[in-house]
Amino acid sequence: KEDILRRGRLSAAKSEEINAFTSSLQADRWIFPSDIMVDKAHTAMLARQGVIDKKDAAAILKALDSIGAGGVDAVDIPAFEDVHMAIESKLIKSVGENVGGRMHSGRSRNDEVITCVRISARKELLGLMADLLELRKAIVGLASNNMDTVMPGFTHLQHAQPTTLAHHLMAHASALDRDFERLLDAYKFININPLGSAAFASTGYPLDREYTTKLLGFDRPMDNSMDGVSSRDFILTTISAIAILETDLSRLADELVLWSTPEFGFVELDDAYASTSSIMPQKKNPDILELVRGRAGTVIGHMVAAFTIVKALPYSYNSDLQEVTPQLLRSFEISRSSVRIMTGAVSTLKINNEEMARKSTMGFTTATEIADTIVRATGLPFRTAHGIVGRLARGDGNPSLADVDRASMDMIGKKLSRMGLTEKALEEAKDPLKNVRRRSILGGPAKAAVTSKIAAEKER
Ligand code: ARG
Repeated sequence: KEDILRRGRLSAAKSEEINAFTSSLQADRWIFPSDIMVDKAHTAMLARQGVIDKKDAAAILKALDSIGAGGVDAVDIPAFEDVHMAIESKLIKSVGENVGGRMHSGRSRNDEVITCVRISARKELLGLMADLLELRKAIVGLASNNMDTVMPGFTHLQHAQPTTLAHHLMAHASALDRDFERLLDAYKFININPLGSAAFASTGYPLDREYTTKLLGFDRPMDNSMDGVSSRDFILTTISAIAILETDLSRLADELVLWSTPEFGFVELDDAYASTSSIMPQKKNPDILELVRGRAGTVIGHMVAAFTIVKALPYSYNSDLQEVTPQLLRSFEISRSSVRIMTGAVSTLKINNEEMARKSTMGFTTATEIADTIVRATGLPFRTAHGIVGRLARGDGNPSLADVDRASMDMIGKKLSRMGLTEKALEEAKDPLKNVRRRSILGGPAKAAVTSKIAAEKER
């Protein structure tokens, strides 16, 4: 294999170790199909502009088609410095240097690589968004079936107030909706065309950058060639959006892990989403969700790595930038698989409605509603009612009207039963489903409010 790159300037070949050290193999495999597209667009444009002969361009395009069709495995990337040189070398081998040697006119690997990365990132981003849509659908589906599934809601991980599973799930749906929006936002920073920037100072060849922009499906060309090869903020934006998505996924995963413990007993994972122990035969472990939770940490690491590499890097191209691409690629891999795994776990989740309902009033979760009921019935200030019910919280969490009267005698020297509080109103306040029904304002857990939230989410 002749090294078309080094034969002019450099004499000594790189050692195996140096080759391996400088290689960007994983990312290069990823961008291979994009590189074929970029080569073709650049060649077609060169011919259209009269920079190369149409006949030569036709031969190059034909050869590129067959190299592309052969796939990445048919190209020996490690034998060359990178995928760009591997493709160009193969092209020259196929059509001769007098033809194939003209393709790289007015171009550098600096603009080439980042054009390829943008195309691959765009495709991956759309794939991730499609995956995320499926997860959102799965969550909305589960919520729709659990509108009346009462459960305790938590603050500080302590029982707080009754809510419904639908309301809780739709909270996660809201977060994922915003994650989707952030990814969509990232798209517009990705989909701009640096091709034509060449090494950084553009080129004296009369390149038509609007034409390659059109051929490659970019929204517009980048309007400064130094920016074209130097900037990676589109990666920082995308990877940040992915890190936030991963963070949100980790919270959902964590809750499902927690909820599948006997202490909670709210849900049971499908066996396909669990493993067992090599020593404890009885175990059903939620490892898959634990790994979703853990990999969020890995992605945050990739995000920090990307920022740290780009930070304080002088313009224009530096090889440090090669190190940024795999951070993005791995973040895509992790997030796409995690989203798909979560979709499966959520769709196959078994809900233990009885246990959720049984625990919905544990820890005196109806205390707030009792205080509000006292306010409505007696006209006392909320703070006063809060104090009286706080006194009741020392009891068993199921106070009778007589208990209430004793507490209010203690606190304010009056019986609330003499001030308009009835047995019926108290019983209603202690009913978890009625607690939920009362909370019918926008965003609340009452059926009508959750129904319209679900409808809005389906629409989006
Ligand atoms: N593998 C390189 C990257 O990912 C391609 C560009 C190399 N350019 C150069 N001047 N060495 O950034």
